[in-house]
Amino acid sequence: MALLEIENLVVEFQTASGPFRAVDGVSLKVHEREVLAIVGESGSGKSVSMLAVMGLLPWTAKVTADTMTFNGRDLLKLSHSERRKIVGKDMAMIFQEPMASLNPCFTVGFQIEEVLRIHLNMDRAKRRARAIELLQLVGIPDPRDRLGHYPHQMSGGQCQRVMIAIAIACNPKLLIADEPTTALDVTIQKQILDLLMKLQAEHGMGLIMITHNMGVVAETADRVIVQYKGRKMEEADVLSLFESPKSNYTKALLSALPENAVGDRLPTIAGFMADEAAAAGVAS
Ligand SMILES: Nc1ncnc2c1ncn2[C@@H]1O[C@H](COP(=O)(O)OP(=O)(O)OP(=O)(O)O)[C@@H](O)[C@H]1O
Ligand SMILES: [Mg+2]
Repeated sequence: MALLEIENLVVEFQTASGPFRAVDGVSLKVHEREVLAIVGESGSGKSVSMLAVMGLLPWTAKVTADTMTFNGRDLLKLSHSERRKIVGKDMAMIFQEPMASLNPCFTVGFQIEEVLRIHLNMDRAKRRARAIELLQLVGIPDPRDRLGHYPHQMSGGQCQRVMIAIAIACNPKLLIADEPTTALDVTIQKQILDLLMKLQAEHGMGLIMITHNMGVVAETADRVIVQYKGRKMEEADVLSLFESPKSNYTKALLSALPENAVGDRLPTIAGFMADEAAAAGVAS
């Protein structure tokens, strides 16, 4: 049984100029111990589809799907309170914008401990010890002192690492990592990716890795979904995708990798590949 199974997910926002379909029929499965990468240009609905899975979209979003199950439970039928018990515990997300997801009014320590208190009912001493351990895991120096800091006292990269600590605090069964390393420098990027892969191996965690970085895809993913304009353009295991990409969009994405540069220029990707999009049924 898949850990997460989605069929025909559609997300429509009510906007001043009428409804806007950000996700248009996406289907996917993630199993335990599996890493699924989702790639695609900015605005292709990667974050919105995963926020829909987490149940964290604003009220202006209308979410429908033929199937949306997590660990055998129908997410579309769960009550608000039942869903809150899962989200942040068994299913967690590293959000794309760390500064916006941490609460500026509370210390970093409080925000990490809060998750442990709510979901695992840990006592104070255990929570504190685990919070220090988590900050250490994500590579924050002097973790004991850092617990008392507020998000504005930390850099963007450090906030991102705190958010990662919160996301992995309860050893989730499924972790959705939305561009988890973009605000980090290269050595920390590697450290965080290694940590995620270690957790994935040790706890049998399923991992959805949203990224623009094809190097990260090559290094981490088992399977890849290429998304475009709210639709799935291509899905393949990672080797096949790199060796024999089917869609022109994927080919263009791969040819834009630095190692494929011709001379000192990188090829660009046309914003809208009309023929292919039409073939995939994407309306322009
Ligand atoms: N609250 C909202 N109201 C209306 N439209 C929204 C809202 N949130 C997102 N969108 C739109 O939905 C589309 C998909 O956005 P999404 O954030 O999922 O893109 P993405 O693939 O994650 O892009 P990026 O790679 O830049 O993170 C975009 O056109 C975006 O403007
Ligand atoms: Mg996004």
